[in-house]
Amino acid sequence: MQDARLFGVLGDPVDHSLSPAMHNAAFRATGLPHLYLRYRVAPTELADALHEARQLGMGGLNLTVPLKEHALPLVDRLTPEASRIGAVNTIVFERKGLLGDNTDGRGFLRSLGRRVALRGGHAVLIGAGGSARAVASALVSGGVRRISIANRTPARATALAKRVETFGSVHVDVLGLSDLRRAQPLAEAVLVVNTTSVGLANGAVPIRPGLTPRRCVFVDLVYGAKPTPFLRAATRAGRPTLNGAGMLLHQGALAFEAWTRHRAPLAAMARALRAEGLAIP
Ligand code: ATR
Repeated sequence: MQDARLFGVLGDPVDHSLSPAMHNAAFRATGLPHLYLRYRVAPTELADALHEARQLGMGGLNLTVPLKEHALPLVDRLTPEASRIGAVNTIVFERKGLLGDNTDGRGFLRSLGRRVALRGGHAVLIGAGGSARAVASALVSGGVRRISIANRTPARATALAKRVETFGSVHVDVLGLSDLRRAQPLAEAVLVVNTTSVGLANGAVPIRPGLTPRRCVFVDLVYGAKPTPFLRAATRAGRPTLNGAGMLLHQGALAFEAWTRHRAPLAAMARALRAEGLAIP
């Protein structure tokens, strides 16, 4: 039997993280004796926390708000994906030091499955924060031809657009939030992703989903039992929708695989998230 190791998610706030439920279910389903816990860590404490986790021989860590960017200078090596996104959500303890990875973008791509034909398509990205960087990275990996970025603060959208242009061969343009009511930016979209936190407070994004092609998929990264106003509007217009629970599941599965070298037990992980009230297709 393998030795038990300790894993965890660091963040502040971290009390509501569902990662312990998901990863402990994964350990049980795989027959691994490990344990995954939450740790409240402020940005100023992160360097010490990472050092101590290594000293204690922890098995692996996730980082959540507000630590993902703070970790960049604190690890020994970044994966190309983490440096492209500019954030670390997964830390792997390697013999040579700490590896900072980011599984959010790949998790997002996996959560889409076969629902969207990204290659050569046009995607609309709402928001310009850390989640938007991860999704943009995924969209470029998925082969989109054009990304339109709409954000409340235009300067952040412009900065993200410049960054995304370095990801690969993709055309990036910037929109204001009010442009999401116009036909032109939506007419050819295969995917519209809301990465903002607006839906957390039950707020709505000013968009007219009916202006997109009929098979355009609407994704809101917010997850929970109930659909956000953004997804409800898309459903009313007859468009397919997806919440952020699948991205949570798949980013976790990728982290689990990086730490344990075992295939992630997706069904058990999804069951654990459903038991916490999430709606997973
Ligand atoms: P994350 O890492 O989750 O992306 P973030 O970096 O704080 O978090 O980014 C939050 C995103 O939600 C931003 O795009 C933010 O818009 P601004 O750049 O203008 O701040 C967006 N956002 C948050 N609250 C919003 C609101 N009430 N209306 C519109 N956009 C909002």
